[in-house]
Amino acid sequence: METINIGILGFGVVGTGVAKLLLDKKTVLESRTGAVLNLKTIADIDTTTDRGIDLGQTRLIDDAGGVIADPDIDIIVETIGGETVAKACIEKAMANGKHVVTANKALLAGHGNGLVKLARKNSVDLAFEASCGGCMPIIKTLRESLVANHIRSMSGILNGTCNYILTKISQDGSEFEAALKNAQDLGFAEAEPSLDIDGHDTAHKLAILNSLAHGMEINLKDIHVEGIRNITPADIKFAREFGYTIKLLAIGKIHDDHVEARVHPTMIPDTNPLSHVDQSMNAIAVDADATGQTMLYGKGAGMMPTASAVLSDIADIARNMIAGTRRRMPILGFLEDHIKEIPILPMEELSTRYYLRFEAQDHPGVLSTISGILGEHHISIKSVHQKGRKNNGRVPVVMITHMANEASVQTALTRIVKTDSVVGNPMVIRIEETA
Ligand code: HSE
Repeated sequence: METINIGILGFGVVGTGVAKLLLDKKTVLESRTGAVLNLKTIADIDTTTDRGIDLGQTRLIDDAGGVIADPDIDIIVETIGGETVAKACIEKAMANGKHVVTANKALLAGHGNGLVKLARKNSVDLAFEASCGGCMPIIKTLRESLVANHIRSMSGILNGTCNYILTKISQDGSEFEAALKNAQDLGFAEAEPSLDIDGHDTAHKLAILNSLAHGMEINLKDIHVEGIRNITPADIKFAREFGYTIKLLAIGKIHDDHVEARVHPTMIPDTNPLSHVDQSMNAIAVDADATGQTMLYGKGAGMMPTASAVLSDIADIARNMIAGTRRRMPILGFLEDHIKEIPILPMEELSTRYYLRFEAQDHPGVLSTISGILGEHHISIKSVHQKGRKNNGRVPVVMITHMANEASVQTALTRIVKTDSVVGNPMVIRIEETA
């Protein structure tokens, strides 16, 4: 049986999970790939911490360069994270003719187009199933299983931290800060949580998925991103009264000559299966022309779920090598000469429905002032709820609009805020009726 040598860069959580699977699942991996997947070397600056694995013949060294330069190593698994060192290591590995597997969505979202070109130049594979949605096989689904489909739209819950926090606020009425603290105490949120809670991690994943779905270059910079910091228990409660749940969604839709790509808290009807994806779970719904709706659900993070996705890439590359081939699968799902620059719709041109919550002064004429300004901007109100009187004389006024234009909504809200009818900034949550 052919031996394929593997090197891991980064012996943190994911690297440890990959090492565990390579060592513990040796026999089943041989039966499934027809190759001995030999974990030859791991590199990490920390070579002393006990990761709870018997490494056997595998070497643990502190020099990534030693792994990248090893002529016997066929596949490099990058689990360093971050963009600088990881990028340099991947580039060097490719230049040395090694296939690369990575879970690094930030790197791919920011530099993926260049890395795809470099892989082509060096005739190596670049695989990244673990970059989006942890163990959910969404990359393979888009690139392989749905190959005969025109992907019309995707809606995903792709960040377990945000989903955990939103679930916590929803289930016990916690304020955002308390829910975040709880997520941190339980290890669901990082000590520095902004990448997750401000939506950027989700945007990285959407940039990659949009590229695979629509045959476009990876474009992170034009994705509209909002996080969940401002979501209150009151909004979640009002949403529930209207029959909606609030989720941080990644939304990617294709139109004739542009795509929509946006990440923001979104109200979805309780009939949408995504509304029932709770705690730190991830899910993605894909709407395609031949299949209709397809959905994946699973753990979006964690040592073994992420390592499982990395192993699927290693196995693919190993199978190719056994078959004497390489670069069988276009890295972004379309042949590189067929990848187009499709523009992302500027947010101000978006049309959708809106949930608006104002802290309104409880005096006569307030509702007509608000609805009058909305009307002047062609924003039609579907329903209005005024929710009781507060001690300080202000009342929450909640409105659901019909389809409206984003720029018009923002302009109208700027005008409303300047009146003496409301206090503070309104809460704006976009509504998606379909998954
Ligand atoms: N930080 C991510 C999350 C996991 O909270 O889902 C890795 O993508």
